[in-house]
Amino acid sequence: MEMRFEPMRAGDLVACAEVFVEAFNGAPWNESWTLDSAREFLGKLMAEPEFWGLCLRGEQGIIGFLCGRITVKGGEKSFFCVELCISPDFQGQKYGSQLFEAARQLLLDEGVSSIGIGTDKNTPAEKFYLRHGLKETRATETDVYMEWRKENAS
Ligand SMILES: CC(C)(COP(=O)(O)OP(=O)(O)OC[C@H]1O[C@@H](n2cnc3c(N)ncnc32)[C@H](O)[C@@H]1OP(=O)(O)O)[C@@H](O)C(=O)NCCC(=O)NCCS
Repeated sequence: MEMRFEPMRAGDLVACAEVFVEAFNGAPWNESWTLDSAREFLGKLMAEPEFWGLCLRGEQGIIGFLCGRITVKGGEKSFFCVELCISPDFQGQKYGSQLFEAARQLLLDEGVSSIGIGTDKNTPAEKFYLRHGLKETRATETDVYMEWRKENAS
């Protein structure tokens, strides 16, 4: 299937909210998003000046996206990934990996030198990030924070 990576724009909000609801209302998250609450959450995030997002578009529309904030501190540009999701019908087929790698390359091109993320401990998502070279920086009983740094990449 032909896939394209595209910057996440205001016009993608509804399609992204649909993917988000499907992905996070499903296992293992089993959250209770509605289309409206997802649209409100993502819309607010997208309106922030630091917002950065990338969509994965297939023939049938957006099937996943990755988004978060780029911040600059002490001269270092960092990206914190707030959300990453792939529509359940397409999970486990390496689309998330392709999206993550494309985002990492584009962020590097923009001068970003580290990528951070927080997720729940012992989830498939944690395994996914470990596979993509992120290292645990801090953990609580339930959450884990992970980071990838350009200078440590092999
Ligand atoms: C996490 C997620 C983005 C990974 O994308 P993906 O396209 O399903 O994953 P890929 O096919 O590229 O990679 C597969 C690896 O990801 C992990 N994984 C995470 N969730 C998975 C899922 N639902 N199905 C299959 N693999 C999953 C596994 O470690 C798997 O490794 P394996 O091949 O050794 O089993 C996607 O499954 C998803 O949207 N899940 C629900 C939302 C979520 O958890 N987001 C991250 C929250 S921090």
